[in-house]
Amino acid sequence: MNEQEHENSQAGSNYAAENVNGTAPLSSNGAFNHHTAKGAQPLYRASFEQRRIQPYAQIIGWGYHIPERIVTNHDLEQIVDTQDEWIRARTGIQERRVVAVPQETTASLGARAARKALEMADVHPAKVDLIICATSSPEHIFPATASIIQDNLGLIHAGAFDLSAACSGFVYGLSIARGHILAGDAEYVLVIGAETLSRWVDWTDRATCVLFGDGAGAVLLAASDVPGGVTASVLGSDGSGAELLTIPAGGSASPASLETVSSGSHYIQMDGRAVFRFATRIMADATRQVLDKAGIPISEVDLVVPHQANKRIIQHSVLRQLKIPEDKVYVNVQKYGNTSTASIPIALCEAIDEGKVAPGDNLVFVGFGAGLTWGACTVKWSVPVEKPESTWWKNTQRQATYQAAAARSMWKRAIRRIYSQMEPLTLSRPERSTEEEQTT
Ligand code: UT7
Repeated sequence: MNEQEHENSQAGSNYAAENVNGTAPLSSNGAFNHHTAKGAQPLYRASFEQRRIQPYAQIIGWGYHIPERIVTNHDLEQIVDTQDEWIRARTGIQERRVVAVPQETTASLGARAARKALEMADVHPAKVDLIICATSSPEHIFPATASIIQDNLGLIHAGAFDLSAACSGFVYGLSIARGHILAGDAEYVLVIGAETLSRWVDWTDRATCVLFGDGAGAVLLAASDVPGGVTASVLGSDGSGAELLTIPAGGSASPASLETVSSGSHYIQMDGRAVFRFATRIMADATRQVLDKAGIPISEVDLVVPHQANKRIIQHSVLRQLKIPEDKVYVNVQKYGNTSTASIPIALCEAIDEGKVAPGDNLVFVGFGAGLTWGACTVKWSVPVEKPESTWWKNTQRQATYQAAAARSMWKRAIRRIYSQMEPLTLSRPERSTEEEQTT
């Protein structure tokens, strides 16, 4: 059996099992099977033939992960010419989380958040069809960070790709996930926002280093026939503002060289004032547009979860321009700084933990970022927010699943190494007929 046959045979056995077992997670009688039928879930996803196209994309799982290391404004006073009062007054940020060891990467943070989202939904990794990792600080230009997370979690049936729309990336991801589900191409989609921006920040540039932080958040979307979930989205871009917030080098326009490294062109560069002006306008406009599209009056919004870039941007946009009361706008930028694509899912998880989200609520997620890009979506929250109870048996099963994923990955790498060390096969050219010889 060659390497390809070996991989096919593994996939084949799983597909055979899924044909027998697949079911939809949510049903029209309002019962959320993923919560109620714990342990009875089929291990493998439904085959395409067995799936009914469901008209809604519900968020059924959520989770976040942040590094332990805290960097306060006072810590930054030791590094650059800044003051705690300046940072608090201009941004609302008091501290941020920063990765401390090389093992903490965008993929490792993203995988931890995704794992929590899967556990919250009680969905087996093998059932996920697609994983989208929105990130501005990917592990590499390629392969996609999403593929690394896919391997880490054992999402053996999932397609995987990274989404580059800067801080708007998570909202873009939700919109794409919804489209994929509504088209019937996927039943479960993981959308992750994950960042280690501390590795792209110039720690001598006070204009940017005080703003950003590391972290990851994830949600699991599921096909459903229960009305609600992600109901509308608005996405936009204005590339004429590309140079306002950029990492100039390291791409094909300016490949890495001694010169790009010595000039600091691999760090984040930003025209803060221009981005601020754009952000305050677009956050309000995008929120208005998406609410119009969803047919929801502003007065019926229960919670706005905005991109956490700067408290003043949130105040000048959704609070003042749209006159949405403060208690309906979630803010946690003081704790984490700007975590780019991760900021909305982290804020969502914390809002849920604090009891600010309940079934039936109308939520708005709205973000903006480099590109320039922006995005907003409305969500009719429809699932219970209580964590499913976790038994030792369930935990053991999960541990075993992730250990199996690690073992599978090691096994596949080992097989590849063996094949790469074997004598290359000499493929003989097929014999050509005398007729062919004569015509050439
Ligand atoms: O996800 C998208 C990411 N980007 C953003 O969201 C950025 C949006 N922009 C902003 O949030 C704000 O523009 C900043 C927080 C970056 C800056 O606030 P600002 O009120 O626009 O300040 P500024 O750039 O107009 O600078 C005011 C002063 C300047 O000094 P002078 O020229 O007036 O003497 C800066 O040099 O503040 C100075 N300054 C600082 N002072 C102490 C800039 N950074 C700092 C600092 N500490 N960290």
